[in-house]
Amino acid sequence: MNIVFVSSEVAPYAKTGGLGDVVGALPRYLRKLGHDVRVFMPLYASIDTARHPISPLGDPFVVTLGSHRYHVRIATSDADPGMYFVHSPELYARGALYTADPDEHRRFLALGWAALMTLQRLQFSPDVLHCHDWQTGLLPLTLKTAFAWDRLFSATKTVLTIHNNMYQGVFPASTLSDTNLAADRHLFHHDQLTHPDGGRINYLLHGILYAGGVTTVSPTYAKEIQRETLGAGLDPFLRARRSTVVGILNGVDYDEWSPEKDTHIPHRYAADDLSGKEENKQALLQALGLPYYPNVPVVGIVSRMASQKGFDLLAGLMPDLLRRHGFQLTVLGSGEPHLEQMFSSFQRAFPSQVCFYQGFSNPLAHLIEAGADIFLMPSRYEPCGLNQMYSLRYGTVPVVHRTGGLADSVTPWNPISSRGDGFVFEHHDQIGLRWALETALATYRDPIAWRRLMLNGMAKDFSWERQVKLYELVYQRLEN
Ligand code: ADP
Ligand code: GLC
Repeated sequence: MNIVFVSSEVAPYAKTGGLGDVVGALPRYLRKLGHDVRVFMPLYASIDTARHPISPLGDPFVVTLGSHRYHVRIATSDADPGMYFVHSPELYARGALYTADPDEHRRFLALGWAALMTLQRLQFSPDVLHCHDWQTGLLPLTLKTAFAWDRLFSATKTVLTIHNNMYQGVFPASTLSDTNLAADRHLFHHDQLTHPDGGRINYLLHGILYAGGVTTVSPTYAKEIQRETLGAGLDPFLRARRSTVVGILNGVDYDEWSPEKDTHIPHRYAADDLSGKEENKQALLQALGLPYYPNVPVVGIVSRMASQKGFDLLAGLMPDLLRRHGFQLTVLGSGEPHLEQMFSSFQRAFPSQVCFYQGFSNPLAHLIEAGADIFLMPSRYEPCGLNQMYSLRYGTVPVVHRTGGLADSVTPWNPISSRGDGFVFEHHDQIGLRWALETALATYRDPIAWRRLMLNGMAKDFSWERQVKLYELVYQRLEN
């Protein structure tokens, strides 16, 4: 099949979270099955073109969105065939991948239009156009209307993957003309355009309405978003399409994330010799300026600091737990200021136990996976979550809330049968979290049980080789 991905993040070029990891990996695994996969993303100013050399492709052209005209150039990756970057400094040379600027909707509309216009220039006829999150939510409708005249796309089917349904891309209805689809006004969800607050357009919603299929990133999340609690207003529309809504757990790119191969960590290790893990723990603590004590467990966190991730439960609770149990806490992340401040306050109060590294660092993310004993992910909701799956492979025992992909990937430890690989709490409250973390800390003191837990997790297989076949099935069954 000819498959085209359009995404706002692709690792290793630019990512803020798991979307980048997934779109960085899935096309490679589809190619291994013989498909021709092309991937489009913005050429953000942050992309290091010295490390990832690119070359211009064809002549520049103009993308017109309503009354706005953007000059774009397409560049291809020299080392990664099939990778296309949309170059438009006016749109993408900003301080961050995502902004709250008034043209945010146009930044990603332009990405989709530039992708389709490039396919026309290449005369590349996709069987599947695979869209990701709200940024590409209007693309299925755009293809069916504005590009319907072009026979190049007459056999193209579309699929939208929802990586997080809380980010919906909601913009004022006054921006309708920027979509170039004002003539197709009747195809927009009417209630939204006429809403008393002046009306709005919800990009993710229109992806759900018009894509030939909708997938999300775990089976449990696929069910959760069809209910009111986690539907975020989209549940009625997802229920209406329930036969085409499929949950596929994300895969893990084990070339990038496994302790045997990891080039970011000082000591590689494997299930048959775990000694390197203890050495990585020492390296981690040293890197963060914390003392090392044998037999004192290290809890790790690597995360966007967003309310989704459930860290508000730690306020009040964490100081008490640190005092009582004496473990160490290494935290990497950035995001909402009140959460950053909370972790900073833990560090100030417990300087030899806690280190909060505020920022984004891929090497440190790898070192925490390798060096920590326990990985904490108390997400309020989690469409899939990758770090708990990385943790399992590194023998870093996850403590998670039972939601979304966390429920689908972590099996609760059963001390009687010695089965299971993590600690899973049912209710998202401090009692649940305290129980799970204290049970993990108590189990850590039993070296035989702990080793079993680690090995159970390390033996689990979330490889893309398996998951990619599920995407193939979805592609084969897409509606028109
Ligand atoms: P989400 O996409 O909701 O952020 P995931 O668990 O799916 O959650 O993916 C997070 C990805 O982003 C992982 O690869 C993780 O290592 C990475 N990540 C998150 N925060 C940071 C950070 N501060 N520094 C480095 N990597 C990070
Ligand atoms: C989103 C979700 C996360 C998921 C990732 C990749 O950012 O929050 O749970 O793993 O997308 O699909």
